[in-house]
Amino acid sequence: MDFVDTHCHLNDEKFSADLIETFERAKSAGVNRIINFGDTLKSSAAVVELAEKFSGMFAGVGIHPEEISDFDKNSAEKIIALAKNKKVVAIGEIGLDYYWEKDSEKRLQQQKIFIEQLEIARTVNLPVCIHEREAHGDALKILKAEAKNLRGVMHCYSGSLEMAKELWKMGWLIGVDGPLTFKNSAKLPEIVKAAPQDMILIETDSPYLAPVPNRGKRNEPAFVVDVAKKIAEIRNETLENVAQYTTKNAENLYNIKVE
Ligand code: NI
Repeated sequence: MDFVDTHCHLNDEKFSADLIETFERAKSAGVNRIINFGDTLKSSAAVVELAEKFSGMFAGVGIHPEEISDFDKNSAEKIIALAKNKKVVAIGEIGLDYYWEKDSEKRLQQQKIFIEQLEIARTVNLPVCIHEREAHGDALKILKAEAKNLRGVMHCYSGSLEMAKELWKMGWLIGVDGPLTFKNSAKLPEIVKAAPQDMILIETDSPYLAPVPNRGKRNEPAFVVDVAKKIAEIRNETLENVAQYTTKNAENLYNIKVE
């Protein structure tokens, strides 16, 4: 079977001691391709550098909503420069995080920088990976108004079924991670069950959110198989089938050809 971990952070210091082994374990589990995402300019440069070293490793570049103090008048130009590397397959993770940001002025600032980075995606013609937490309404509003002709995924999806249906209608995918396997996964199983086959990506968000049976431990790309297993169980499909269509979805969204 062939899986893609469409969202992780192997540049995190938690992998500094065993990055090569982690990537080898992923490959042994059938996770042959992964996409690392930056969240600051510095980490965006780091994921590009990492992607250049490993076949099967790709990168997304952008500034995370919790890191917008990093965004200044030169940032767009720097992100565009990084995005020109052929291992860069996405702009992300970008978006809105109202869970951590309660200040209304700063939330407005997040919106402004989110829109600016959507513009970058348009400039460099890349899909978008969105981080969105407790900002469902504003995120949807911005996508409707500012993301015409862009493609992408709502990573680590935490919205409602109604919102997911709107996203699917607009051609946006949802990213499904470890929380699907948690006992308190709330409405996520129902959303996964309702999702059209071509609208789901699997991801780990490593080193965070390890799925059961490794919940609470450091997450790693090999564990994306546990997310796929849970999807298969919920949707009453075979694991082979889930591997096949989620990989195809990843290939259709991102240009992740291994040379
Ligand atoms: Ni992430």
